[in-house]
Amino acid sequence: MKTSASLSSLLLATTTSAVHIPRHANTTEYSVKTPPLDTPWTYEVGTNPWPEYPRPLLERSQWKNLNGVWRHQNVSSLDAVNSPPVGQTLENAVLVPSCLESGLSGVQGEYMLYNWYSTEFTVPSDWTGENVLLNFGAVDYEATVFVNGKKAGFNRGGYFAFTLDITSYLTSGTNELLVFAHDPTDSDPYVIPIGKQTLNPSHIFYRPCSGIWQSVWIESAPANYITELNLNADMNGKVSGSITTSTNTSTSVEMTFTPRGGSGSSATHKCTSGDFSFTIDSPQLWSHESPNLYDIDIKVGQDQVKSYTGFRTVSRGVIDGVERPLLNGEFVFFMGTLDQGYWPDGLYTPPSYEAMTYDLKTLKKIGYNGLRKHIKVETDLFYKACDEMGLLLIQDMPSLRPSQTRTLKDCTEETILPNNAQQAEFQRQLQVLIKQFRNYPSIITWVIYNEGWGQITDPPYPEFGLTDLVLQLDPTRLIDATTGWYDHGAGDYSDNHHYANPQCGSPFYSIQSSPYDPSRIGFQGEFGGIGNNVSIEHLWNVQEAIDTINQTYEIDTTLAAWNYRGHELLGELRYQVQEYACSGAVWTQTTDVEGEVNGMLTYDRRFLRPDLAQWNADFGAIYDAAAGRSNSSMKLF
Ligand SMILES: *[C@@H]1O[C@H](CO)[C@@H](O)[C@H](O)[C@H]1NC(C)=O
Ligand SMILES: *[C@@H]1O[C@H](CO)[C@@H](O)[C@H](O)[C@H]1NC(C)=O
Ligand SMILES: *[C@@H]1O[C@H](CO)[C@@H](O)[C@H](O)[C@H]1NC(C)=O
Ligand SMILES: *[C@@H]1O[C@H](CO)[C@@H](O)[C@H](O)[C@H]1NC(C)=O
Ligand SMILES: *[C@@H]1O[C@H](CO)[C@@H](O)[C@H](O)[C@H]1NC(C)=O
Ligand SMILES: *[C@@H]1O[C@H](CO)[C@@H](O)[C@H](O)[C@H]1NC(C)=O
Repeated sequence: MKTSASLSSLLLATTTSAVHIPRHANTTEYSVKTPPLDTPWTYEVGTNPWPEYPRPLLERSQWKNLNGVWRHQNVSSLDAVNSPPVGQTLENAVLVPSCLESGLSGVQGEYMLYNWYSTEFTVPSDWTGENVLLNFGAVDYEATVFVNGKKAGFNRGGYFAFTLDITSYLTSGTNELLVFAHDPTDSDPYVIPIGKQTLNPSHIFYRPCSGIWQSVWIESAPANYITELNLNADMNGKVSGSITTSTNTSTSVEMTFTPRGGSGSSATHKCTSGDFSFTIDSPQLWSHESPNLYDIDIKVGQDQVKSYTGFRTVSRGVIDGVERPLLNGEFVFFMGTLDQGYWPDGLYTPPSYEAMTYDLKTLKKIGYNGLRKHIKVETDLFYKACDEMGLLLIQDMPSLRPSQTRTLKDCTEETILPNNAQQAEFQRQLQVLIKQFRNYPSIITWVIYNEGWGQITDPPYPEFGLTDLVLQLDPTRLIDATTGWYDHGAGDYSDNHHYANPQCGSPFYSIQSSPYDPSRIGFQGEFGGIGNNVSIEHLWNVQEAIDTINQTYEIDTTLAAWNYRGHELLGELRYQVQEYACSGAVWTQTTDVEGEVNGMLTYDRRFLRPDLAQWNADFGAIYDAAAGRSNSSMKLF
């Protein structure tokens, strides 16, 4: 077993001290490291971040949040995982959850490839006799977890939740939790889902996020507990799905549906674990305009959880001769932003729930009815917020190494693409994405590939097989197999990207995309992207990023010019809705990010570019044009 240099010195340093003084949660040693740009929430985060229950679709009453100040140490190799620093004091304080590269982490490091984390916790005394589950919202990229010195589990995949049953590792007193986080991002030879993270940021690719970036908590559950709830509720009141439990034994199930908001009566359904299907009479439907939800109390044997759902159907059909996406049987024009979910203070982790939902409220105020969550996955609370606020979501799979090349021995350049094993892992994680988020009513579409990033473009085209896999796990939504660039006919959408003006479901198209295919839904997966530079106090103050601002598709030198251009481009989109087969569009983007200055909001969220009255009117005209193309006598159910 090899031990890394810095870990050996750590072992040496601690073995020389006579008495071990645990300092796992010394909050006085933590402070925010001044980020290149802050937000109104940066200095309000404090040392108890993200206090909300993190898993609203499967909520247990007995839980304990482990977020807060932990200790952390950056080490130099993967071998360090073989020598967990049990009982030792790691070098620095860190705020969990946060990205190690963010100011909020208190570390703000670079090249955080190999990391130890430590904390301590006690199990509440009234949980005696129950199993204890340790939950992680997301750890980028691989996490190896030790409880009281014993390996309790491993997870691969930087965007997804995982749960470990740690009952057998616990002691009655203080328990020590160690996590080794390995995050190679885009270092060779790794080709893994990373979205826009890169170790070498430049213009549209940003500072990476490593380590524990979503909530960590423990909860108690009976020995036979729910491990998976898959539940879909449609516009006809049909509820279907499945419940899996930890022992795989057939267990009695009772589900009570209560309309949220007080009015209407509850309905209870009894069955056993495994697959279920039943009907609730005349439910109030969920839509972006009336986001009616039903709370669900679920009892499975001794396990009791709270969940919720929305009754709605996403489908596709021909309306007046045009392929359309349908919500509850009606054509709804999707008008969203490209939403990257980056924060100057927290990178992947929003400073708070309030900060996160500020973006969503702002988009609604401008007139958007949805957003495309771009090659990133958010905390479950984000999806809950969209369900409650009535925002339609297109969810991207985080892409593999985007647009990167490597130089071969003969000095030629090769596009970096996954090998077979890396492709298989991408496919596995795509399935994890679908399983974790398929119960959220606001998600209407899954995206597999963005602009060819990580997409093998030789036959057999991988997007066909991946589309089938997604459909097997979730036949209730539409699939945008390739948004932009290499479309070979898979999925429900014919999706073009073009800047700055849209070319949506129309007889003109950009060179990198294919012509509009009338057998699928005509869509503009990206357009807009017009920039407007701002003064230094609203910019990500990193010279390399500022130097790339001039790579923006278009810079409008005044705000009035920017709004004028917005009006022109939205007018062009309206025309394509009216005259051609455009069914939805995504404006780039919600906020500025690093060297990009094309947001509705600046990166610090302090300055809003759109002239609200004008943008409201322009979106209103687009929705009206779409309504004029809906023919209610031809609704397909
Ligand atoms: C916490 O850290 C501060 C600053 O290093 C130190 O003065 C204090 O003694 C520590 N407290 C504990 C309980 O270790
Ligand atoms: C973290 O460790 C890596 C080596 O794995 C090193 O390159 C990097 O500079 C370290 N970063 C910090 C902030 O110490
Ligand atoms: C339950 O079934 C799953 C999937 O088939 C399997 O991975 C797991 O080991 C089973 N658990 C038990 C306790 O039998
Ligand atoms: C954008 O503004 C910043 C400071 O406000 C300035 O340093 C930079 O040169 C500007 N870039 C462009 C392309 O206008
Ligand atoms: C953009 O600005 C950088 C740094 O100022 C400069 O090196 C580069 O040539 C400029 N690029 C363009 C397209 O103007
Ligand atoms: C709606 O569809 C019906 C049946 O196909 C057709 O007769 C009618 O002209 C259509 N109305 C509009 C406004 O397109």
